[in-house]
Amino acid sequence: MSWQDKFPKENRYLQTLNGILYHGDCLRILAEFPEESVDLILTDPPYGTNYGKVEGDESLETYLKFLKISFRILKPDRFLITYCFPKFISEVIKTAEEAGFEYEWIGFNYYPNMFKQKPQPLGYNRHEPFLIFSKGHPTRNSFMKDVIHIIMEKERRALHPHEKPLKALDKLVESASKEGQIVLDPFAGSGTTLMSCERLNRKWIGIEIEEEYCRLAKDRIFSCLKQRRLEEFLRCGR
Ligand SMILES: C[S@@+](CC[C@H](N)C(=O)[O-])C[C@H]1O[C@@H](n2cnc3c(N)ncnc32)[C@H](O)[C@@H]1O
Repeated sequence: MSWQDKFPKENRYLQTLNGILYHGDCLRILAEFPEESVDLILTDPPYGTNYGKVEGDESLETYLKFLKISFRILKPDRFLITYCFPKFISEVIKTAEEAGFEYEWIGFNYYPNMFKQKPQPLGYNRHEPFLIFSKGHPTRNSFMKDVIHIIMEKERRALHPHEKPLKALDKLVESASKEGQIVLDPFAGSGTTLMSCERLNRKWIGIEIEEEYCRLAKDRIFSCLKQRRLEEFLRCGR
C-alpha cells in the first residue's frame, strides 16, 4: 500500500511519487482526510484583502474554517504555519487557539528591495508575516531565523498574484519537517510549497480551487522533476 492510498481518491489533478495535487475546495476535500495524517501544514490562505482577484479573498471566512478543521488532520507534536495579513493576526490566533493549537511565534518575509507594492501610510510595505502554531510539543528539524530576507529579482514576473518566494518556503519546510514526512498546503496557488517539498525530499499534498493555478503548479513540479533527473544523470556520469 502506498502512502497516497489513505487520502481521498476523487478530485486528484496530479499524482507523482512524492505528491498529490487536488483540484477543488479544500474545505470539502479536507473533510475526507483521515485523522492525524499529515506532518506539517504550511499554507498561504486567501487573506480577506480582496487584492489580486483571488478566489475566496473577499472575506476571512474560508481561512477561519480551514483553521478549525486542520487540528483533526495534523499529527500530534507537529507545526502549522500560515501566512496572515497584519490586520487579521489577532483573529487568526484566537480561532487557531479555539481549535486546539497553541500560538508559538510570528515570523516575517522581509523584502529589502521591494518598492512596487501599494505603499503603507508611512512608507513602503516590505514585510509579510507568518504565524507558527503547534499541536502538542513539536521539535524543529533545523534552526532558522524568524526574519527571512528575500531579494526580489527585477526581471521575474510572479506567476500568481500572491506567489510566495521559494526561498521562504524552503526555510519553513526545512525547519518544521523532516525528510520523508507529509506536508499539506490546502491553498496551493501556483505550487510554491509543493516545489519546495519536491526539492527537499518531503511528501506533499496540495489543494487548489482554480484550475488555472493547478496547471501552473503542475508545470512547476514537472520542471522540478526534470531538473532533479538531470542532476542525477550528471552525478552518475561523473
Ligand atoms: C494566497 S494564494 C496562495 C499562493 C501560493 N502561496 C503561491 O505561492 O502561489 C491562495 C490560493 O488559495 C486558492 N483558494 C481559495 N479558496 C480556496 C478553497 N476553498 N480551496 C482551495 N483553494 C482555494 C486561491 O485560488 C489561491 O490560489
